Amino acid sequence: MQVRTLENYSVLSRSVADLIGSTIKRKPYSLVCIASGHTPVGVFKCMIDDIKAGTLDVSKVTFVSLDEWLGIDPSDPGSCISMLRKDFFNHVSLRDEQIEMFDIDADPIAECARINDLIIANGGLDVMLVGIGLNGHIGMNEPGTSFRSYAHVSVLAEATKTSGQKYFSKPTTLSKGITLGLRHFAESRLPIVMANGLKKATIINEVINGKPTEQVPATIVHNIANALVMIDAEAASEL
Ligand code: PGA
Repeated sequence: MQVRTLENYSVLSRSVADLIGSTIKRKPYSLVCIASGHTPVGVFKCMIDDIKAGTLDVSKVTFVSLDEWLGIDPSDPGSCISMLRKDFFNHVSLRDEQIEMFDIDADPIAECARINDLIIANGGLDVMLVGIGLNGHIGMNEPGTSFRSYAHVSVLAEATKTSGQKYFSKPTTLSKGITLGLRHFAESRLPIVMANGLKKATIINEVINGKPTEQVPATIVHNIANALVMIDAEAASEL
């Protein structure tokens, strides 16, 4: 694991976007997993700028979803796919087959198998960018999830049901999700945990200065030599 602290959110976002961009430049047919949520929005802005400026070509990339709420209509603005469309996909020209999202209308077990197989068939994930929850979750891998997990249905922690309300315009019942697993993160060629802001300072300290434990999923970074924890000065303020 390597920790990189950048001075602020905009420098952090540019730095993460450059890392993803270099991977794509080196390997145009990359398989890239991107998180939805608030953390990566700045990264997407930088990537959109680069694509529009002609310095980044994503025409051969396949983007794969990190996770999705179960029981939430994909057209709801709080669904993971809606957020990704609003923050990234709608701003760049991509063919449908370049976007591989969890289909929550399909049988969830079959859908997990489909996504697991797709990742294997593409030779593994070249990038996996995740944010971090206040309880240390990455994706919807909640405390107690096995470090050996691949895609699975997850029962959401109470903390996630509460913090997840920030994505919805009205109180919304969240109970389960479907997510890539922690083993996917460990096996990806560029595994990045990104965090910004004072709210993330306590959990970032717990992850970086703690020992690896499945009770705090993001601590898996200690077991991954090439994992990057990329944070801004505020998220680093309790280290
Ligand atoms: P956020 O969510 O990026 O919206 O803070 C992170 C998470 O809960 O995984």
